[in-house]
Amino acid sequence: MKTELTGRVALVTGGTSGIGAAICRQLADSGARVATNYRNEDKARQWLSEVRAQGYDFQTYGVDVRDFEGCGQMVAAIEKDLGPIDIVVNNAGITMDVTFRKMAREQWDTVLGINLDGLFNVTRQVIGGMIDRGFGRIINISSINAQKGQIGQANYTTTKAGMHGFTMSLAQEVARKGITVNTVSPGYIATEMVMAVPENIRNQIIAQVPVGRLGEAQEVAYLVDFLVSDKACFITGANLAMNGGQHMM
Ligand code: CAA
Repeated sequence: MKTELTGRVALVTGGTSGIGAAICRQLADSGARVATNYRNEDKARQWLSEVRAQGYDFQTYGVDVRDFEGCGQMVAAIEKDLGPIDIVVNNAGITMDVTFRKMAREQWDTVLGINLDGLFNVTRQVIGGMIDRGFGRIINISSINAQKGQIGQANYTTTKAGMHGFTMSLAQEVARKGITVNTVSPGYIATEMVMAVPENIRNQIIAQVPVGRLGEAQEVAYLVDFLVSDKACFITGANLAMNGGQHMM
């Protein structure tokens, strides 16, 4: 059966858990062939066996997004295994929460390296092909905390706010080439990352969400699925919030 993304090839970084995993499944449900990268081989293997049992088949590559050459090799391998990449979801990201006075240089460098250098490394390796082919969809997964700040996240919010600057500049550069570039800014979603926040603090955060609950990864995946479809061709350079009303702009 032909569906919205039939024939499309998608790379979702950091797809083996959380929001990325939901996006992988959703894009596959819409007909795309989906690839992802991983850093932790055991975790990736476990995830693959779970999703295979549900009928999914994803291509996985053991590449750290901090490695520019490695990202280039991954893109070449995906193009050989699945075909030219039409869709990139820059989702790979980590937190290392600590108040700034205590923040070590390594906690700054690691978060910037994965969340922001990774954005450059992956996107830079695919953009030429997208321009040459006249089609592309790039989605950058940011955060509510890029818009409002958060205690303990000076490193993370720097990267997540930076992502949208990147989105707006690149969107303008490639708008006439059939490529859209957008940011999605989820609020607190029920993933491992959010469940790692101490329970008392998490409960205080949930109390600030007008909808009254954490979001679901699948809810973010539905938005990404729309943005990468042909229907969304006039949306570019946007920053779409999905946070249950916790922060309204
Ligand atoms: N509100 C007000 N004051 C706070 C505070 C808070 N939430 N957290 C810490 N402080 C204050 C402390 O009271 C302390 O002040 P005093 O010295 O005057 O007593 C000062 O800041 C220093 O605190 P500590 O460094 O000792 O902080 P801590 O060890 O207690 O923990 C923290 C700090 C690790 C940041 C902890 O508050 C925390 O985990 N917060 C949650 C951060 C968060 O929301 N992360 C989101 C992760 S999920 C995600 O990122 C996904 C997404 O995009 C939404």
